[in-house]
Amino acid sequence: MTKRFYITTAIDYVNGQPHLGHAYEKVITDVIARSRRGLGEEVFFLTGLDEHGQKVQQAAAAEGKSPQEYCDGLAESWRAFIAKLAITNDDFVRTTQPRHQAVVSAMLNKLHAQGDLYKAPYRGWYSWKEETFLTEKDRRPDGTFDPSWGEVTELVEDAWYFRMGRHQRWLIDFIEATPDFVQPSNRRNEVLGFLKSETLADLCISRPKARLSWGIPLPFAPEYVNYVWFDALTNYYSVPVALGDAEATAPLRGFYQPSTLNPQLALWPADVHVIGKDIVKFHAVYWPIMLQAAGVPLPKKILVHGWWQKDGEKMSKTTGNVVDPVAVSNEWGVDAFRYYVVRELDIGSDGNWTDAGFQSRYAAELANGLGNLVNRSLSMLKRYRNGVVPARHDELAPDAAKAVTSTVDELRQYHLQGALEAIWGLVNRANQYVDQTAPFKLAKEPAQAKRLDEVLYNLAETCRVLAVLLTPFIPDSAAKIAKQLGLPDVPKLFTEAAWGGLQSGQVIGEVAPLFPRKDVAK
Ligand code: MSP
Repeated sequence: MTKRFYITTAIDYVNGQPHLGHAYEKVITDVIARSRRGLGEEVFFLTGLDEHGQKVQQAAAAEGKSPQEYCDGLAESWRAFIAKLAITNDDFVRTTQPRHQAVVSAMLNKLHAQGDLYKAPYRGWYSWKEETFLTEKDRRPDGTFDPSWGEVTELVEDAWYFRMGRHQRWLIDFIEATPDFVQPSNRRNEVLGFLKSETLADLCISRPKARLSWGIPLPFAPEYVNYVWFDALTNYYSVPVALGDAEATAPLRGFYQPSTLNPQLALWPADVHVIGKDIVKFHAVYWPIMLQAAGVPLPKKILVHGWWQKDGEKMSKTTGNVVDPVAVSNEWGVDAFRYYVVRELDIGSDGNWTDAGFQSRYAAELANGLGNLVNRSLSMLKRYRNGVVPARHDELAPDAAKAVTSTVDELRQYHLQGALEAIWGLVNRANQYVDQTAPFKLAKEPAQAKRLDEVLYNLAETCRVLAVLLTPFIPDSAAKIAKQLGLPDVPKLFTEAAWGGLQSGQVIGEVAPLFPRKDVAK
């Protein structure tokens, strides 16, 4: 049994509106998952929803629904959202699922039994809207709190704490010794900077049930519920445990009764947690400490992406400044959406969506670049050779091999943008090759028949190599290329990108534009 490549996204707040940021995170994670499958690895890709907390409880009440009913309705629209984006997740976790709650309870019981949890009074300024206690740093110079926090009142209440502070030194040493743990390095430096300059406080992990009932009860103090981050972070681990991953379950022995053990399944530790830059502290500080305290092996990498804006401003539903990934996909095709967000920024950098930028990449890179290459290559093969693939010829083989090597290298480092640049190096080279060899002229000269065969083979085979390389990024279009080439299957492995796969004598399929040109109303 080999360990699977286990990759996760953050779990979205169920009551938020799915938007570009959520779609981006899912698409980059999907590209990584698909590319690891392309490398021949077994993959497990988890995404899901964060469903507990005050806001959900309040929103459900406002709609006259039970919180569960309310979450169930929203969960369906989230699932439809990820299906629309062609996301290939293997499981979908919801923090309201009993399988998740059982593991959270077991973790809490173990930490409690070890003396890692304690009860103490908590006094603080509480923002009801943001569901959080505010600190002195949140105060404005005149001592008041910004109105964006909504109603703020002082509260004193008993709470349960997790002894997090005592792990500070260990975590600094761990992150220093493990340069790849947080990627990219600017985020790692940010975490180290924080850990070295501030004293890490113990973490409050409870809310009184009287105020917040929509949560997982503390198993040893049921008048409290577990407060959301502890619950939410545990999703990454609760699913492997629930699915019967023996290694994952072992640290919970005595606290968790597995209903199944699946000896074929090895998921934990996670290989990559993909998250946005706003939640680095939770993932690179709280989460490793929680796991370390519970005796659970740590994930290998926290991969942090940047945030998108639209037209240089924060996206906001109230001002209407939003990008709707579903509307864009309906109009332009889901692959155009996937392509743009991956091509536009490297993982880590912030992005700025502009409709003009999207349309210009669509026209230049998809329609005129890739689409035109495939369309004219295969149309000429149809017209001049009745769609029958000529004898193998290797003129573009070195260019293709170079593109394959760089694409795979970039993907292994999670440089998805770099991988697309490498692939477009081949697209551009092949388009230039059409212009240089001018097959439409060769076709007019019978003496050039052999040369025309050579050129047509090189072009068709390049299209096939491109279909292999593009599968993780734009799966629908890659499948269309394969179909137009008359291939029986959609390529699955990068090894299939080796030059010469297209067999002489094979007849290609119907040719149709991949990315129709669009006249956009100005
Ligand atoms: N529920 C928590 C995460 C718990 S993970 C154990 C949460 N949810 S969220 O819905 O607010 O955000 C989910 C993910 O979307 C986060 O990784 C966040 O960074 C990302 N994004 C939200 N808005 C974004 C942009 N505008 N741009 C890019 N990603 C953004 O936080």
